[in-house]
Amino acid sequence: MKRSEINAIIAKTKELIIENKVTLPPFAYWSTADWDAKGLEVCEIKDCGLGWDVTDFGSEDFLKIGLTVFTIRNGHRDIEKYAGKTYCEKLLIVEENQVTPMHYHVFKSEDIICKGGGNLVVEVYNKVDDGEALADTDVDVVLDGVAHIVSAGHKFVMTPGQSITLTPLMYHAFWAEEGTGTSIVGEVSKVNDDSNDNFFLDGGVRFPAIEEDEDREHYLCSEYSDKS
Ligand SMILES: [Fe+2]
Repeated sequence: MKRSEINAIIAKTKELIIENKVTLPPFAYWSTADWDAKGLEVCEIKDCGLGWDVTDFGSEDFLKIGLTVFTIRNGHRDIEKYAGKTYCEKLLIVEENQVTPMHYHVFKSEDIICKGGGNLVVEVYNKVDDGEALADTDVDVVLDGVAHIVSAGHKFVMTPGQSITLTPLMYHAFWAEEGTGTSIVGEVSKVNDDSNDNFFLDGGVRFPAIEEDEDREHYLCSEYSDKS
C-alpha cells in the first residue's frame, strides 16, 4: 500500500467515528512527532501492538480486499508484565463489499460485533482436520449466546447490536452488506497476536509492504520499532 493511501484512510476513519459518536483513546490522535517525544511510559502501546492498523492483505485493492483496524487494548502472550491482560479489544471499519479474506486463528477466539452503520456479513466454514482446505461439514457457531448449526459457507447477516463468536480453527470472512453503508464493528477477543495467528486460505498477508510516497502521519501498530 502507499503511505498516502494509509494517511487518507486514517483521516477518513477519524471523521467517520466522530460522525458516529465513537471516541478513541488519546494515542489514536498522536502524530509521529508526538510519538517520537514519548518515552518508556508508552511501552505497553508498543509491546502489545495497540493503535492504527490499515491493511489490504497484499491485494493492492484496499476497497475490494482490506480492513481498517484500531486496536484499543491488548495483552501479550510472551511478556510476563502483561500476563494479567488476557483480552483484546479492537474497532474495525468495514466498507460495503470490502472483504476481510477467509482465515482462521489457532489461538484466538473472537467475538465480532456489528455495532452500528451497515450490516456485517460473516461467512463461516470449519477447517478440514488434515490440511488447510475448507471443510464441507456443518458449523456450530454461537451468536449472542444462542447456538446455531449451519451449513458450510453459511453467511450470517448481522444487523447493529448482533455479534458472532468465532472459535479457533473456524474459517471466517466478512464484509459489509451492499446498500447498507460502512459497518462499524467491534472485536473482543483473547490476546491478539496478528503477526503469528492469522492463517489465510488464499495466501493473504496481514501486514502489507508500504511504499513511502508521502510523510507518515501516524505510526501503524506494526511500525513502532521505526520510532526514533
Ligand atoms: Fe479473524
